[in-house]
Amino acid sequence: MNSITNDIKIIKNETSKINEVDFENLTFGNTFTDHMLICDYRNGAWEQPVIKAYEPFTIDPSAKVFHYGQAIFEGMKAYKDENDDVWLFRPDENHLRFNKSAVRMAMPEIPESIFIDGLKTLLNIEKDWVKFGNGNSLYIRPFMIAIGSGVIAQPSSQYRFMIILSPAKSYYSGEVKVIIAEHFSRAANGGIGAAKAAGNYSAQFYPTKLANEQGFQQIIWTDDATHTKLEEAGTMNVFFRIGDTLLTAPTSERILDGVTRKSVLDIAKRDNIATEVRPVLVEELVAAAKNGTLKEIFGAGTAAVINPIVGFSFRDEYFELPKLENSFALEIKEKLNNIQYKLAEDTFNWTVKV
Ligand code: COI
Repeated sequence: MNSITNDIKIIKNETSKINEVDFENLTFGNTFTDHMLICDYRNGAWEQPVIKAYEPFTIDPSAKVFHYGQAIFEGMKAYKDENDDVWLFRPDENHLRFNKSAVRMAMPEIPESIFIDGLKTLLNIEKDWVKFGNGNSLYIRPFMIAIGSGVIAQPSSQYRFMIILSPAKSYYSGEVKVIIAEHFSRAANGGIGAAKAAGNYSAQFYPTKLANEQGFQQIIWTDDATHTKLEEAGTMNVFFRIGDTLLTAPTSERILDGVTRKSVLDIAKRDNIATEVRPVLVEELVAAAKNGTLKEIFGAGTAAVINPIVGFSFRDEYFELPKLENSFALEIKEKLNNIQYKLAEDTFNWTVKV
């Protein structure tokens, strides 16, 4: 059945694959819901968004996304509460960051009526795919690609914005050990590190593959100029607990301004955990690991949520982190999840009903 809501054309998929999905055993990012949102930009304007069956599509082999990687994305989540209502977590932050990424990548900004209202309309159709509690969420992947054809190295004049949805549990399935980077870099000043550009992630594949071969799941990137300051872990921002102070690097041209990162800082401050947002030095971390004051390292990101790191390697030394009774990571994760599932009062006004 076709209909139009908020100027969004809806072409309902007559069949659903939901009964084929084992929601208890999901691997991250491999299962998608029945519908997607698609909206093209041509002749200097966004066209009517369409919600239709999730399916492959065709674009010209010379499209700029294939040759120059003109592509950006966001990571967001929807949660279900005990009353079967669906909630978004700080969606305006993702919309804002998406448009910042668009500007940096010479792509058109997208209005709220498509990004937010389109997402809400899509989520209303896919409500049954969001499950309550137990680490469940619906991972939302808005993205934009350059679909204009021609291999001349210039920005495209045509773009496609899409939203796809994937039911999710945890991103990492086992323990996460990290290695501190000294040779490769994730980003440089003046580059695109602060944008959620596709190339920022593919550039990490090779060094991460080398790290995986050595038994590490992630890399903690350091600043490209001196490799002395700890920055982010690529799929997540990173926090260090030295003594009872929570430390994280300030955002910069090289570090993504993570929504989970800023939420962790807000919860910690509200609950009187000492926080310091300042450059954290590799030598400081190694010294704290050696003198026993380094208590925790954890990653924070939409997909990863809050992920404790069990140990880190620097040069040829490996440092195991202690197993704590009173872990800041687990305490803050529970508080964050309780806000997201509407089990605790949302004093920050972060949750938005769909
Ligand atoms: C997210 O946390 O949503 C991200 O975009 C990271 C991605 C590599 C899964």
